[in-house]
Amino acid sequence: MKERLQKVLARAGICSRRKAEEHIQSGRVFVDGQKVTEQGLKVDPERQTITFDGREIVSEKKIYLLLNKPKGYVTTLNDPQNRPIVSSLLKGISDRVFPVGRLDIDTEGALLLTNDGDLSFRILHPSFEVKKTYQASIKGRLSTENAIALEQGILLEGKKTWPAKIRILKEKKNETLVQIIIHEGRKRQVRKMFAAVGHPVLSLQRLAYGGLQLGPLPSGSFRILEKNDIDKIFSDKNLLYKNKKHI
Ligand code: URA
Repeated sequence: MKERLQKVLARAGICSRRKAEEHIQSGRVFVDGQKVTEQGLKVDPERQTITFDGREIVSEKKIYLLLNKPKGYVTTLNDPQNRPIVSSLLKGISDRVFPVGRLDIDTEGALLLTNDGDLSFRILHPSFEVKKTYQASIKGRLSTENAIALEQGILLEGKKTWPAKIRILKEKKNETLVQIIIHEGRKRQVRKMFAAVGHPVLSLQRLAYGGLQLGPLPSGSFRILEKNDIDKIFSDKNLLYKNKKHI
């Protein structure tokens, strides 16, 4: 079956689809011995020989894991400062997988890992609108005006954030437990959004990618995902906020 070249590269776990386009443009990809620099060429990976930097692409079996990342772990594949890395938690998994998006060292919760670059692209690119749900404990009490500002989008480093959803789950004297749903993945975005309206984040947990929820997975554990789990990522049924105060 013919597929776009960048999709084949991404599916082979080489890189994301966007990066694949750059690699094609810079002449690092050959099909049947011919350099390809045009985008969108359709190829048949079963019948054609595709190479990247001289090495043949062989489609690996796709694997999808959901890890409950503990605090204190970095989501990079190696760390110059020698801090614990999430892949060290994947006991028994020999496939080379990479995290779908990042979580800060001090953030815990749902982290997908896969060798499927194409799926990773679809989850991370804002145009696919996969919602990432977080639960944040923030300093102070969030006013309705600030919650609305966060929902409508605020300027972060000169760029407006895409619309978000905010629910207040619990209010204490000087602390609020909030759920926030965003479909972007800028660096430290949730922390920066709350800090921008004067509420530093005290703790942060990711609860779901789309309709795929972390559930009762213990911290530091992972499970292998099935096809129906992947389908949930793109399903929009988000029942997380039932019966909670809605701003
Ligand atoms: N937003 C953050 O601020 N940190 C994360 O780890 C994820 C989203």
